[in-house]
Amino acid sequence: MANPTLLILAGDGIGPEVMGQVTRIIDWFGVKRDLTFDVEHDLVGGCAYDKHGTPLHDDTMARALEVDAVLLGAVGGPKYDNLDFSVKPERGLLRLRKEMDLFSNLRPAQCFDALADFSSLKKHLIAGLDIMIVRELTSGVYFGEPRGIFEEGNERVGINTQRYTESEIDRVARSAFELARRRGNKVCSMEKANVMESGILWREVVQKVHDEDYPDVELSHMYADNGAMQLVRAPKQFDVIVTDNLFGDILSDCAAMLTGSLGMLPSASLGAPNADGRPKALYEPVHGSAPDIAGQGKANPIACILSFAMALRYSFDQGEEAARLEAAIEKVLADGARTADLMGEEGGTPISTSEMGDAILAALEASL
Ligand code: IPM
Ligand code: MG
Repeated sequence: MANPTLLILAGDGIGPEVMGQVTRIIDWFGVKRDLTFDVEHDLVGGCAYDKHGTPLHDDTMARALEVDAVLLGAVGGPKYDNLDFSVKPERGLLRLRKEMDLFSNLRPAQCFDALADFSSLKKHLIAGLDIMIVRELTSGVYFGEPRGIFEEGNERVGINTQRYTESEIDRVARSAFELARRRGNKVCSMEKANVMESGILWREVVQKVHDEDYPDVELSHMYADNGAMQLVRAPKQFDVIVTDNLFGDILSDCAAMLTGSLGMLPSASLGAPNADGRPKALYEPVHGSAPDIAGQGKANPIACILSFAMALRYSFDQGEEAARLEAAIEKVLADGARTADLMGEEGGTPISTSEMGDAILAALEASL
């Protein structure tokens, strides 16, 4: 059988540094676990703009549609702030999400025991936290038309449109219910049905999908503003949260920080299954390109490495190997390995990006 294929788009800022550690781990699985991937590298974001004048070349887009999974680092940076909106680095990422039709974005927020003190919340509120945000990723205000800045009388008006069809809500709701069945069996759906018609429809469709096909899953609904408040008040009440693109963007950053550092959180963006049963998939850390620390070897590679663990689980049916990698990360954290973002009040000397990679590889070796 042919090896599974991976397209690596390391991108900008700290993307290439953290992805460098991921490729070492991919190599380790090839050598030690007989799990070999055919890996290709290409450009996305500002670096693609520098070379091609576009943040995502058509050939890269075409390849992303062919491979078994895409691993992405991060896009963007101050150098590109003044570019025209249509060629900004973020447009490359949004095009990948849209054209691959990656409608279900899984953003787990898990608190590692060793890091419970790093949260801005009290330890008892977050110890053992394990929530999964399912964010709709290909519609809503990110893509709705009309959009733009228009002349209106003697001034300009900026317009974006929140738009959801029933089928878009239906499919992301299903993916949340499916996930919940494999976890705590609870889904909380968040919208603003009190002020938005799209929210009313969202609530209706989620409830219908539940009643027809997932009555065994516990379903609740919450206004998204209350959801934000509940996330910082008592986050452990949640198991799976399903929400739209914009609310999901905001709520997932909020949930991420509960765990102590954005440098820890992976994500998976999944589409409909292909003929072989594998979903179209892109895996990326939730953190951005962090231009302030780029190129200094300070970045935490764990979010990117955990994204690869999600790829093992969701694209390649290698749940045990994913768990091996997650356990190795848990072990190095328990042993006290800390990159700069994980320096708590007690201080200490942070290790570098590649030293964190060394430690994780050593823990993987020890797992054999
Ligand atoms: C994210 C990011 C992106 C988004 C940006 C980089 C376009 O914030 O993945 O959460 O808004 O979706
Ligand atoms: Mg975001």
